[in-house]
Amino acid sequence: MYVWPCAVVLAQYLWFHRRCLPGKAILEIGAGVSLPGIVAAKCGAEVILSDSSELPHCLEICRKSCQMNDLPQVRVVGLTWGHVSQDLLALPSQDIILASDVFFEPEDFEDILTTVYFLMQKNPKAQLWSTYQVRRLTLCL
Ligand SMILES: C[S@@+](CC[C@H](N)C(=O)[O-])C[C@H]1O[C@@H](n2cnc3c(N)ncnc32)[C@H](O)[C@@H]1O
Repeated sequence: MYVWPCAVVLAQYLWFHRRCLPGKAILEIGAGVSLPGIVAAKCGAEVILSDSSELPHCLEICRKSCQMNDLPQVRVVGLTWGHVSQDLLALPSQDIILASDVFFEPEDFEDILTTVYFLMQKNPKAQLWSTYQVRRLTLCL
């Protein structure tokens, strides 16, 4: 597993806005190593980390990040983009959804937005804080 550059940028953005984080309900999707979620939890947010329910080793990495950073209160749930699962239905309303480097495969975009749309129906004022990296650049010469 790897901390993608997008995660560092999003973690810096969270740190910049750290004064508004205490008490906020924050869900990270496609969390992997979970740097942004960990920073948010350290700043006082109530954080839930998630990764694909079909990738148990990724969920284990999320748990390990919590352990290593002494954050036993942070929950980890399996959320596969586009799946309306029991875990998704049971989530409390969220204020901020974190999504670092999840927009890398165009065929996943609709599924990611379906999950975000579902979460925003629970709280229409929820915000999506996302960073992405342009990987395929087409040059017109
Ligand atoms: C490029 S990594 C980014 C990881 C982390 N957010 C970061 O920026 O360091 C993409 C993440 O999305 C997760 N992922 C891939 N497909 C997924 C899916 N269908 N549903 C949920 N998570 C998925 C992967 O397990 C991985 O953790």
